[in-house]
Amino acid sequence: MPRAESTPFPPVFDEPSVSPDPVKFKIDHPSDNALYKQIQNLLTKDVVGFNAMRGKPDSLYALGDAFGPAGAKAIQAIQNAKRIVFHCAGDSGASSQKNFPHELSVADQVTLDCHSASPTDRPQFFYHLGDVVYNFCESQYWYDQFYDPFRNYPAPIFAIPGNHDSFVIPKTKPADEPLKIFARNFCAAKPNITREAASLHRTAMTQPGVYFALDAPFVRIIGLFSNALEDPGVISNQSGKFPAVPNFQTDYLKAQLQRIKDEKYTGAVLLAVHHPPFSFSPHSSGSGGNHSSSSDMLREIDTICKQVGVYPHAFLSGHAHNYQRYTRTVDFGAKDPYDVPFIVCGDGGHNVNPLVQNRKGQPAQDPGNGIDVSYLENHPAVKSKGLLLEKHDSLNYGYLRISVDEQQLRIGFHQAGVASLSQSRFDMVTVDLATHTMVSN
Ligand SMILES: [Fe+2]
Repeated sequence: MPRAESTPFPPVFDEPSVSPDPVKFKIDHPSDNALYKQIQNLLTKDVVGFNAMRGKPDSLYALGDAFGPAGAKAIQAIQNAKRIVFHCAGDSGASSQKNFPHELSVADQVTLDCHSASPTDRPQFFYHLGDVVYNFCESQYWYDQFYDPFRNYPAPIFAIPGNHDSFVIPKTKPADEPLKIFARNFCAAKPNITREAASLHRTAMTQPGVYFALDAPFVRIIGLFSNALEDPGVISNQSGKFPAVPNFQTDYLKAQLQRIKDEKYTGAVLLAVHHPPFSFSPHSSGSGGNHSSSSDMLREIDTICKQVGVYPHAFLSGHAHNYQRYTRTVDFGAKDPYDVPFIVCGDGGHNVNPLVQNRKGQPAQDPGNGIDVSYLENHPAVKSKGLLLEKHDSLNYGYLRISVDEQQLRIGFHQAGVASLSQSRFDMVTVDLATHTMVSN
């Protein structure tokens, strides 16, 4: 795609000219399904270790660094626009040809958005919420599931790994372990074109680790890696319950929040983690869609937030293949309680699942909107004064379009397959940064 001279994006992120697809779509061999069944029980107990991020626990990865030599100009353009816009979604990887059009519908739409938005409204990056490559991050699937669909996305792409980017199939060679391949493509020391990119020109991202804090104008995103289980999310060894999991991330989260407090940071603070702290299940049966809430993980996060005295403005997650937006009302000692959006956006291309599974051949009833789901709170470590499921979509693929200025954070969910930006928007929440309260749209 030709690039106008005035765009701040460096040439390294898209192709100088479109090259032919060098390989046929690589299909999961049918034996992969059998293998998947064999390892099903391991998916509930096999966690993985990982390296500490480069730098100190309170260090930041600056958005400008991801733009390379064009960084200063790109950051200046965002400052001049007085706002930043970016995309976010999880679970994009198409593990079969059948899924591929769904992944393309999202990838093409975010790419079109970058190329058609006015300069002050142009998305500056894509933040991936994990499960980039299915089924388990194998090198041979990266081209079809990541590099090719996003070949014309003209901006940096960051990612935290999901369970599918980290679970190790027994007898995998050490060099082929998923997190090593993930790190090669997202946590490189320097920009380079990896073997996974094949003939394409997107360079490996240089984020400092599988968990990292992205510092951009108006927003800071604290990314956590929630490990390899199907459920629940795990960010620490939980007092010895998961000995293989290092405790780097609890120190890191504490250090990042302390830095926000010490700096009197006034921008938006987002917490991104693949496994959702809240995912719908009916009150009666206790089980809902394909994934449940990760209550222990949330309790750990809440405990650290409470210790430091800083609470994020919003939580972003994937993993469940649908869109869910909750409002958690938290009494954090301020004049008014905080309204904290907890958002699940795991319909980036791999699949779309209902919020409630069919049972015994009976079609399940999806919940309504705006319903009280405070029963999903499980011994919270902060004073929760209520939890509402505000809105959900379990039929459409889609992505988040997030914009932040000095006063407000806006998170919109857009459905794929609708070309007009305004018509594709299914939902929107606005949060006042100073008071952490929701603003009527
Ligand atoms: Fe997942």
